[in-house]
Amino acid sequence: MVLLPMALLLSELLAPAFLLTLEHLDVPTPEPEPALNVKFDPKNMKLTWDCKENTTSIMCALVPKEGDRAVKKPRTKECWCNFEDTSVHRGVLLEVQVNTSERSFREKVLYTNPGGEGTAAHNFSCFIYDVDFMNCTWVKGPVAPGDVQYFLYIRDSKRKRERECPHYIQHLGTHVGCHLDSLLGLTFRNYFLVNGTSRAAGIQFFDSVLSTKEIERYSPPANITIRCNASHCLIRWDKPRTRRALSHSEFQYQLDIQRKSIPPVSTNPLIDVSGDLENQYHFPSSEPRAKHVVKIRAADARIPQWSAWSEPVEFGSEGVGGSLVHVYLLAVLVTLLCALGLGFFFKRFLGLHRLFPQVPQIKDKLSDNHQVTWEEFTPGAGKGDTEEVLTVEEVTGAVEGM
Ligand SMILES: *[C@@H]1O[C@H](CO)[C@@H](O)[C@H](O)[C@H]1NC(C)=O
Ligand SMILES: *[C@@H]1O[C@H](CO)[C@@H](O)[C@H](O)[C@H]1NC(C)=O
Ligand SMILES: *[C@@H]1O[C@H](CO)[C@@H](O)[C@H](O)[C@H]1NC(C)=O
Ligand SMILES: *[C@@H]1O[C@H](CO)[C@@H](O)[C@H](O)[C@H]1NC(C)=O
Ligand SMILES: *[C@@H]1O[C@H](CO)[C@@H](O)[C@H](O)[C@H]1NC(C)=O
Ligand SMILES: *[C@@H]1O[C@H](CO)[C@@H](O)[C@H](O)[C@H]1NC(C)=O
Repeated sequence: MVLLPMALLLSELLAPAFLLTLEHLDVPTPEPEPALNVKFDPKNMKLTWDCKENTTSIMCALVPKEGDRAVKKPRTKECWCNFEDTSVHRGVLLEVQVNTSERSFREKVLYTNPGGEGTAAHNFSCFIYDVDFMNCTWVKGPVAPGDVQYFLYIRDSKRKRERECPHYIQHLGTHVGCHLDSLLGLTFRNYFLVNGTSRAAGIQFFDSVLSTKEIERYSPPANITIRCNASHCLIRWDKPRTRRALSHSEFQYQLDIQRKSIPPVSTNPLIDVSGDLENQYHFPSSEPRAKHVVKIRAADARIPQWSAWSEPVEFGSEGVGGSLVHVYLLAVLVTLLCALGLGFFFKRFLGLHRLFPQVPQIKDKLSDNHQVTWEEFTPGAGKGDTEEVLTVEEVTGAVEGM
């Protein structure tokens, strides 16, 4: 009932494609009699046959319709072959050759997926996320009857544990996916089987072998921090948490650093950073610094399958460098404030009201002819002088820096 009877066929009946792939198994022996009674159990990927006396050598082969053939040479006392888990839903050819001291036996078996063509689950895929979770999805076979129901079974490569999906994802009552919130017991490679039932027709199964490394989607990098000095911003982050502990060099990263402005200005290209560089990047950015937003994503160093983007992190300050107009307006504003400050100083300490009309002309104030006047000021006001002059110089420097 389960994975159904196998077709016992002579080599003459086999598809030409299979014969081609089997060519190098042919050995120059007299035509052997098919008296081995070979059986294949896809649940264990195991071939068995009737034991023969005085066996000198045995060879088994499993040839999937797609993928690599597997060849085994069991000990002469054994009458079985165990194969690694393999996807067999497209059909698989099995061959056994037993040589004894008297003669040789050779038999081929074609195992086919029982049930109606087009009834199996298809578009099957799984991904591991946030280290501990896995989702698998599939769609109903195009000719599967309305009452079809699918079931997912997962077993580890040692075949110690087979478990059915604990939480099915359903669409109109049909299982079309599975959510696992514990991956305990999964090995590096695992065998996934989706079989099905229906009262109307036999349902083919789908099977696949997936390695956890291939299907793991990394989380985005964590703990992004940014520290800036006058010329650079140092962006640092932690590598994402993964199922297996991985070294820094097993990751690669992409940084998306954009100036935050409305409407958006030109977009900066993504920056690739190798994991070898200790998860940091020196972003050249001189003060004053417009507000920027950085997002980072991670991938395996060899497989550019990217994680989601991290949450955006901001640096720089609002309103600085938004546009040249902003810079100009800011410069004018600061200049005016300083001018007013100077004016206040003169008014308060010296009562020189007549200087007021000249206040907007800051540069003039600093020119030589005026400095003569400043030197005549009383020593008590000296401290105030220096502060005001410094303020003006800073502003001038900043405006040039833009
Ligand atoms: C599906 O496969 C599982 C595991 O091999 C088995 O226990 C179950 O009986 C199968 N169901 C059907 C409908 O074939
Ligand atoms: C196995 O070998 C022994 C001794 O060589 C021989 O007597 C016996 O007939 C052989 N058995 C078969 C089934 O050929
Ligand atoms: C199944 O996958 C194929 C190929 O990727 C795609 O063209 C098709 O739309 C998918 N079908 C469904 C129902 O998702
Ligand atoms: C995985 O499946 C569960 C159950 O349907 C769903 O709540 C969750 O959002 C899925 N996770 C992802 C990352 O798609
Ligand atoms: C983020 O930083 C905190 C505190 O330093 C640490 O406990 C945590 O493990 C870090 N997260 C990751 C993913 O490294
Ligand atoms: C700012 O940091 C960069 C590296 O991030 C360094 O090369 C530079 O010398 C620093 N500049 C100052 C003024 O500290």
